[in-house]
Amino acid sequence: MSYEDVQNCASYIRERFNGEMPKMALVLGSGLNSMADAIEDATVFSYLDLPGFPEPTVEGHAGHMHIGKLEGKPVICMQGRAHAYEGHAPEKLAYATRVLWALGVEILVLTNAAGSLMEKAGPGSLVAITDHINFSGINPLVGVNDDRFGPRFPDMTSAWDKGLTKDLQQCATALDITLHEGTYLMAKGPNFETPAEIGAFRVMGADAVGMSTVPECLAARHVGMRVCGISSITNYAAGMTGEELTHDETMEFGAIAAVNLEKLLRAFIERVA
Ligand code: HPA
Repeated sequence: MSYEDVQNCASYIRERFNGEMPKMALVLGSGLNSMADAIEDATVFSYLDLPGFPEPTVEGHAGHMHIGKLEGKPVICMQGRAHAYEGHAPEKLAYATRVLWALGVEILVLTNAAGSLMEKAGPGSLVAITDHINFSGINPLVGVNDDRFGPRFPDMTSAWDKGLTKDLQQCATALDITLHEGTYLMAKGPNFETPAEIGAFRVMGADAVGMSTVPECLAARHVGMRVCGISSITNYAAGMTGEELTHDETMEFGAIAAVNLEKLLRAFIERVA
């Protein structure tokens, strides 16, 4: 996907959206979709209609881009994302992020469902992502570098913005919501991890594990966007409880975490957008 493809998609959106273009975008992970539906005066694009967006691999799960206002502030909510486990070429996982950048977005808020490696952060709790480990084996920045996006060797020292994370913490405090902090490790999936893998990830310094988010962070930092993120914890990681992991369980606890996450994100938008 070239620079021109990205600009072409951004033009398509600009031609069909008349309002104030947001400077903040949120990517809503699984179970967190409802917030996008709350956007006022929304212009909604199906990913199916956006030129160059990755083809969904599950029928009816295309995803939508909602542009409008939340808490009176202009925002874009990305409902659904492409995952590496779907078999997309790695560069495709940078595409939506680059389109947001081409639209003028400067702050990207990434959310996901994740397993927790921390005893204190059980199912239903929230973890602010303070750093990540890319254990997925893929990288969306591989290939010929187009300097119009960013440098060949982007720095990741400040991949997760300390200032934005502080804003999230202050919003959480005001709402009396506990916001843990930790390092997110991306595994490619689609299987959940083995207990031995989780043991290894713990030694490596992981606090939460999931199958997304890191490609978007890498693409966003490449183009110079500021990034913050929250994992909504759906389960303790494999081997921590003796129970098996199921997608249904992750959906159930995702819904519980989503209530607090929506409150937190609304306060964050009001404060920062
Ligand atoms: N592992 C990987 N991805 C996940 C998990 C997990 O335990 N829970 C939700 N997404």
